[in-house]
Amino acid sequence: MTSALSAEGLHTYYGKSHILHGVSLEVAEGRITALLGRNGAGKTTTLRSLMGLTQAREGKITIFGEDTTRWPTFRIAAHGVGYVPEGRRIFANLSVEENLKVPLERGGPWTIERIYKLFPRLAERKQNRGRQLSGGEQEMLSIARALLLNPRLLILDEPSQGLAPLIVREVFRIVQQMKAEGISVLLVEQNARMSLEIADDAYVLDDGAVVYSGTARELAADDARVRALAGASAEEWTLT
Ligand SMILES: Nc1ncnc2c1ncn2[C@@H]1O[C@H](COP(=O)(O)OP(=O)(O)OP(=O)(O)O)[C@@H](O)[C@H]1O
Ligand SMILES: [Mg+2]
Repeated sequence: MTSALSAEGLHTYYGKSHILHGVSLEVAEGRITALLGRNGAGKTTTLRSLMGLTQAREGKITIFGEDTTRWPTFRIAAHGVGYVPEGRRIFANLSVEENLKVPLERGGPWTIERIYKLFPRLAERKQNRGRQLSGGEQEMLSIARALLLNPRLLILDEPSQGLAPLIVREVFRIVQQMKAEGISVLLVEQNARMSLEIADDAYVLDDGAVVYSGTARELAADDARVRALAGASAEEWTLT
């Protein structure tokens, strides 16, 4: 299996706080990889390290065959990595359409027209400002913006956070559709149950270290383990 991304032995710090203690993970091309773990486990820090936002002090990152360990974020993005950060960083004062015009252009199948087909809600609200959108609409705008980069790898940090169950399902369906489009996905989630349903591979982080790596199916089958490793938010919600 070819890997879209592989990280080996990442050690990341915030100042003197040592947060990641040798995290290694791999995202296989064309698959969905879930990264789970309780609050404060180091999920966002792992993503920030992969994106070069908080550079790892030790370790190696390879993305689509290139050693990106010391690359600045914009170069990683231009290499085909879309990043949807925690908390939907959309521009509150810009309209939906203006928000969609922000990303740097990278040729490929995703255009604003196509985005409006995938997210009819955004088309309806294209003149509304970011701050007028519901949480679910903001999340969709955030994902849409990352798609306009025409990524080969999409990295999502808790896209379901704070959304109503129905909207959560919608977001997860979109993630599945990304896979069908041939995009590799690294999905960070608190919602362990639902992530494991759509994921192929899974990792669980605890205290800045990987405590599970394997297939999503194997982890999902072990209810007690999901609860213990992924925390109290291993909710009962399922896709069906
Ligand atoms: N900017 C920062 N400065 C110092 N410590 C930080 C900073 N950001 C996060 N931390 C600490 O690093 C650890 C890992 O945080 P991180 O945000 O990566 O966890 P997480 O798994 O994403 O959690 P959550 O599920 O709450 O989003 C936590 O102990 C957190 O308090
Ligand atoms: Mg986080």
